[in-house]
Amino acid sequence: MSDPWGKMQGVRPVKPLYRWLDAGLSLPEALAKMRATYGVSEAKLALLREVAQFEYPFLASLSPRTVSVYVGIPFCPSRCLYCSFPSHSLRELGQERRRFVSSLLAEIEAVGRQVKQAGFFVDSVYVGGGTPTALPAKDLGQILQALRQALPQPWQELTVEAGRPETLTEEHIAELVEAGVGRISINPQTKQQKTLDLIGRPHSAADIEAAVIRTRGSFATLNMDLILGLPQEGLSEVQASLEWVLGLGPENITLHMFSPKRASRFTAEQDSWQGMLPSAELAARMVEVASQSLRQAGYHPYYLYRQRNILGGQENVGWTLPGHACRYNMIMISERQHIIGLGGGAASKFLNADGTLVALSNPKDARVYMERLDELIAKKTRLLAERSI
Ligand SMILES: C[S@@+](CC[C@H](N)C(=O)[O-])C[C@H]1O[C@@H](n2cnc3c(N)ncnc32)[C@H](O)[C@@H]1O
Ligand code: SF4
Repeated sequence: MSDPWGKMQGVRPVKPLYRWLDAGLSLPEALAKMRATYGVSEAKLALLREVAQFEYPFLASLSPRTVSVYVGIPFCPSRCLYCSFPSHSLRELGQERRRFVSSLLAEIEAVGRQVKQAGFFVDSVYVGGGTPTALPAKDLGQILQALRQALPQPWQELTVEAGRPETLTEEHIAELVEAGVGRISINPQTKQQKTLDLIGRPHSAADIEAAVIRTRGSFATLNMDLILGLPQEGLSEVQASLEWVLGLGPENITLHMFSPKRASRFTAEQDSWQGMLPSAELAARMVEVASQSLRQAGYHPYYLYRQRNILGGQENVGWTLPGHACRYNMIMISERQHIIGLGGGAASKFLNADGTLVALSNPKDARVYMERLDELIAKKTRLLAERSI
């Protein structure tokens, strides 16, 4: 089977497309160039067309005076089979957890001051990880209040990931509501208990349902992540998971394609997983069938990206019901606004006038992050000051 994205190596297929649109090409002309330059398949050109029609006008409307902010909480209750994150479980960090939170509060305060001084407004704030709700509710509440105080208001969007349902308590929900969170993520990945056990997620489909019921009505947008192509799953498992998620009625569904990280347990034990993944043909069929169900249910694709080791050369796609597209996801993938990363493992991207960017990553190891905090604050302060409005 030929690669659906042809010769394209980059993980952000929209970037060359949008550059051609910026240069004045029409969408059909820019898509024809994607076909000619990379050999992108007709199916992926159709997907790109749909995403671009929605996303490009939004991106073009962004003011150069705005930034978005990502906050990284580099902890999870345990590490999933395919993931290389996080560097610590909270238990291992022990007493130092409070020191991490204090460091993050200091970074928020210092960088927030510079955002104001440099004359920027804030578009979107995204608290991810890791699993932000792995922190005690009080810690998370303190971080959210610090963000509200330090960064200029109003914001267009505030998302907090609560990926693992077992971490989301009533106290967490109360703190998120108090901070004005509008979008949360509760991520099943699959409905199948045998797969959840296999990938090391100690929650059940019933835990997901309970978390959804507890949060409904408190947040305008619920996102749920699924992974296609998980070990030992076929088309019927994927269809069952998707039908079940659709029944829970989230406004956003993000379809990921399995793509084991280099430093994950899956990669380390690769030999024992031989033969358990779907073929490229089956992966393509999963995408096709899932996309069809999502369309029928009224969702449309609004952003996409790829990973280096992605199964069958496919992609990850964010789907949304009308009026619920996540601004931060579109901004982050398209790299069309300064992104300020705070906390463990957070990536910052500062745009240059010529369209290039300066990338800066906070260490994901909480101890290294704490040691290097002053230097990280100084660098971000300088990069913001150089871009003062
Ligand atoms: C950066 S993760 C953070 C979400 C959260 N920690 C969780 O796991 O629920 C965002 C999403 O990427 C997907 N993901 C993570 N690692 C992946 C992998 N190796 N292959 C495919 N999808 C992956 C999962 O759907 C996950 O929910
Ligand atoms: S997939 Fe999510 S919950 Fe699992 S280890 Fe990675 S970041 Fe943590």
